[in-house]
Amino acid sequence: EGNKKVCRGALVVLEGLDRSGKSSQCSRLANYLEGQGISAELWRFPDRNTDVGKMISAYLTNTSQLDDHTIHLLFSANRWEKRSLMETKLKSGTTLIVDRYSYSGVAFSSAKGLDIEWCKAPEVGLLAPDLVAYLDIPPEKAAERGGYGGERYEKLEFQKKVAESYKALHDVSWKSVDACQPIEDVEKQLQEIVFDCVTECQKGKKPLSLLWS
Ligand code: TYD
Ligand code: MG
Repeated sequence: EGNKKVCRGALVVLEGLDRSGKSSQCSRLANYLEGQGISAELWRFPDRNTDVGKMISAYLTNTSQLDDHTIHLLFSANRWEKRSLMETKLKSGTTLIVDRYSYSGVAFSSAKGLDIEWCKAPEVGLLAPDLVAYLDIPPEKAAERGGYGGERYEKLEFQKKVAESYKALHDVSWKSVDACQPIEDVEKQLQEIVFDCVTECQKGKKPLSLLWS
């Protein structure tokens, strides 16, 4: 009854190696959008607060050991348990800035040698990002940045394999940003591409779509 259609929010994902600067850029982006009067929330995967997330966290801190397939499916389940909330938020007009998503899931597991199509399968049907901003940094440069935190995957040799795996995942929603630039320059570039993406989604001509196409 004459109710104005709510413009949907954008699903924006930041991806990249450990220490590429995703987490700080994600919070800067969320602040920037709020400052522009755009409703935005910061999300991250893994979400370590759920029961599944606690199993993932124990694995990453080497407190538990799990088969490679098993941990892969747990990471995926951790996204599935947030899927309906994600859809609700987006449809109610909130833009989500998400620190890692299915691309991390596939890149990290396939870097261990798991088949890439097998890795993608449990992600099919999750919401597809409108934009994937890849913070591009050579693994050696990332390793120099104040060192890794000591979690399971934070080792140079493994990160090199992850960087290779990420390359196989580029699609139309993907934009690379040179993450070796000063932090403010990376921030500025991200602001521009994310703002464009949000504006595009607000026009209402771009329905939400699903992975994995
Ligand atoms: P990370 O973003 O580094 O979390 P935190 O900032 O809390 O340390 O994510 C933890 C690790 O999990 C990281 O090395 C990437 C890996 N990962 C996967 O292997 N699969 C996935 O699906 C996700 C989301 C992350
Ligand atoms: Mg980390």
